[in-house]
Amino acid sequence: MDKLLIQGGVPLSGEVRISGAKNAALPIMCAALLSKAPLRLSNVPHLRDVTTLLTLLGGMGVAVSLDEKLGLELDAGGLHSPFAPYEMVKTMRASILVLGPLLARCGEARVSLPGGCAIGQRPVDLHIKGLQAMGADIRVEHGYIIARADRLKGARIFSDLVTVTGTENLMMAACLAEGVTVIENAAREPEVVDLADCLKAMGANIEGAGTDMIRIEGVSALSGAEHRIMPDRIETGTFLVAAAATGGSVRLRGTSARILDAVVEKLREAGATITAEDDGISLCMDGPPKSVNLRTAPYPAFPTDMQAQFMALDCIARGTAVLTETIFENRFMHALELQRLGADIEISGNAAVVKGVAQLDGAAVMATDLRASASLVIAGLVARGETMIERIYHLDRGYECIEEKLSQLGARIKRVH
Ligand code: EPZ
Repeated sequence: MDKLLIQGGVPLSGEVRISGAKNAALPIMCAALLSKAPLRLSNVPHLRDVTTLLTLLGGMGVAVSLDEKLGLELDAGGLHSPFAPYEMVKTMRASILVLGPLLARCGEARVSLPGGCAIGQRPVDLHIKGLQAMGADIRVEHGYIIARADRLKGARIFSDLVTVTGTENLMMAACLAEGVTVIENAAREPEVVDLADCLKAMGANIEGAGTDMIRIEGVSALSGAEHRIMPDRIETGTFLVAAAATGGSVRLRGTSARILDAVVEKLREAGATITAEDDGISLCMDGPPKSVNLRTAPYPAFPTDMQAQFMALDCIARGTAVLTETIFENRFMHALELQRLGADIEISGNAAVVKGVAQLDGAAVMATDLRASASLVIAGLVARGETMIERIYHLDRGYECIEEKLSQLGARIKRVH
């Protein structure tokens, strides 16, 4: 198992390029299932989750090809088996995003229920309820979702919880349904908008993506298209927080401040100077950060995927911060590991009280989930001495070449096998 070794204490400086967004690439790759013609994607991040999904799609009969510029072509013309096995789905819950497209394209699908997840139970009942509202016959047997529908019918779907992949699954299914579908209380995340933009390029009829009401008028078939994946706003936020925590000055290219207002706001509150540029965003931080409170909620509020990273920042900030996690029921596991580095954190229910300490001390810690591992990397960058992070396969799921990018910014970090 790979480990990361970090010698802390170096303020990050310089510039790096931000990769394409994992949480846009995954649904958009599944959208390829909706068409018999090829979908060509650029700016796809090189991540374990992307490779996993390519393997899953390949097993269904999707022809996958990479060109010399790392452009990805997905051709679902030869789609022959609408089946997502447990062995694949258990390694990546986002595989559930094949359900809607398979049902819409093939009229049937057999998709393993995603198992449990470290950060929460994460059911998919709203995905299933929405598809049933569109006329699908869905049963759950032996851990598999067995779905059938001659042709899905447009429906008005009200989702009592805001679900990102639920909105994406239903939006994709509705593209080929008969009639109009309206999704109310839809997720407004930029990744949902990026998916809608790709679907529209394929010929879909979608209005309102990015608002809490999305209207889709079904068409008989979708064509191929070309689409460039949007920048990863969580990778952007992670590097900004790492620069702020180490008192550095960085420029991130190929991204935008517009897609992470809530995070930029909090970083400014912590004392960072942030400049939005056309093709990027810069951050400069003099001295230690001030403690900032936060409360996670669906976009455009503060993203849950940035909570762990901010906790690391608050660990070495001046003052006391309260972080409230409202999306997932078990997303504080990084706190236990941060305490091993000397952090002063009290958890009570869905709130964490973080008292800033003058210094963290390097130690051996263990990654438990994707964003928790990012939090430990940030803490290791500021801790005195050496920090070793185990189980970094979690990190590789969502961050492309993170140690290379951090080394480019001056960090003393290396991967040991
Ligand atoms: C997406 O997960 C992201 N993943 C997550 O990013 C992100 O944390 C999450 O949205 C919230 O922003 C992808 O986009 C691939 P939800 P998703 O459905 O869609 C409950 C990362 O680090 N819920 O919006 O699975 C659920 O339990 C990952 O990149 C139901 O109860 O999240 C949660 O409490 C982690 N029933 C809340 O809704 C359902 O049918 C929000 O979940 C669906 C969701």
